[in-house]
Amino acid sequence: MRMFLLLLPLVLLLSAVETQGISVVDLSALREIKNSLTDITSSSLNAFFTSWDFTAPDPCSSFAGITCSLFIPKRVTTLTLGTGLSDSPGLAGILSPAISNLSELTQLVLFTGIVTGPIPDQIGTLKKLSVISLTNNRLTGSIPTSIFTLPNLHTLDLSHNQLTGTIPGSISELSSLKVVVLGSNKISGEIPILPTELLHLDLSNNELSGMLPRKNRMPLTLRYLSVSGNRLWGPLSVLESLSELVYLDLSMNRFSGTIPSSLFRSTLSSMYLQRNNLTGRVPQPPLTSPAATVYGPGSTVDLSHNSLTGELTNTLAGVETLFLNNNRFTGAVPKDYVESVYSGNTRTLYLQHNYIAEFPVKEGLPLPDSVALCLTYNCMVPPVPLGFMACPVSAGGQISRPVNQCSAFNTSMA
Ligand SMILES: *[C@@H]1O[C@H](CO)[C@@H](O)[C@H](O)[C@H]1NC(C)=O
Ligand SMILES: *[C@@H]1O[C@H](CO)[C@@H](O)[C@H](O)[C@H]1NC(C)=O
Ligand SMILES: *[C@@H]1O[C@H](CO)[C@@H](O)[C@H](O)[C@H]1NC(C)=O
Repeated sequence: MRMFLLLLPLVLLLSAVETQGISVVDLSALREIKNSLTDITSSSLNAFFTSWDFTAPDPCSSFAGITCSLFIPKRVTTLTLGTGLSDSPGLAGILSPAISNLSELTQLVLFTGIVTGPIPDQIGTLKKLSVISLTNNRLTGSIPTSIFTLPNLHTLDLSHNQLTGTIPGSISELSSLKVVVLGSNKISGEIPILPTELLHLDLSNNELSGMLPRKNRMPLTLRYLSVSGNRLWGPLSVLESLSELVYLDLSMNRFSGTIPSSLFRSTLSSMYLQRNNLTGRVPQPPLTSPAATVYGPGSTVDLSHNSLTGELTNTLAGVETLFLNNNRFTGAVPKDYVESVYSGNTRTLYLQHNYIAEFPVKEGLPLPDSVALCLTYNCMVPPVPLGFMACPVSAGGQISRPVNQCSAFNTSMA
């Protein structure tokens, strides 16, 4: 026994020297990975692979971008390719299938660069992976379906690449999956049923079509949902019960019908619904909890370029950045909006291109410098001189709407 204890350090030392402490399989995988990628920069100062010297005694402590398990043979547990520094152009080349030999890997990260080719199918054999983040490169092909079988996957970020194909239905089985970011690719097909405890879903700027998953199939835990810039359609009633949402972006799709009143609440502090085909009114603040619609600093609501009608209610007064332009709102704007603009709480209020008849501002009150207000092309002569308004170029030069378009909404007309 004593003999064994004395020998043990020696054995460990010998195997460490022989294998450089690191598993030989992992070491040869790292070699393959390096051989298939290159630094775009030629300056060794901000190059990533400078430290990857395969004659070094302990790659686990000297290679940039890897961490290893403690015990010998050490296994690579996280791999981060690229420096991630803003002055580094990143890597070029392809992702070697040899990554799949790093069987203890829990995190795989590739920073911004111009890496091309597909995501190796074999990645799906790395059962311990919990984070896959391969963003801002030029990866092509479809997302390997094997990724959607990884039992420990928590975060999948493949945004800003050129990925095609569809999102497989097996994604719904991944109960550990919390964060899915596939934005800015060319992914098509429909949005499948999602994992029940998903927190963050970004599918923006793809080629998705069809409707959102049915109401009872939406993850109630969702806090962040963006599907902006796709070809999605159908009603928004499926979102009614998502009470945890703080960020919602459905802009630039073909959604129609009314906006569920449950989405008008201050905890949903960023809501982008612009450029759809939404109809109906902005609801009244709920009588039971009017405080639920007291929006704070940083809040943004964009309902522009829809077909919303009726008179504005107090619900959105106080939103810091508020776009209501290019709808069919009528009547007088409630005083609370005007007060919020003149107190500087609302910093942007776009109301142009509606059928609004009155913006009840007190004569001579100076507009705070920080405020961008646009009231043109409504059924009134704006009470604020054109030179004091901050209208976007797209608002056009006309101060008011032609009278013949307004007669139907002119309540003061006999
Ligand atoms: C994984 O490692 C084995 C043994 O070193 C090797 O034969 C095989 O080619 C490797 N796999 C890949 C995908 O590189
Ligand atoms: C928008 O909605 C209206 C009325 O529901 C419908 O007639 C029209 O076709 C829709 N437009 C688009 C682009 O979906
Ligand atoms: C609304 O009707 C009144 C009374 O006929 C008229 O004086 C006013 O110019 C009209 N306003 C607009 C914007 O058409």
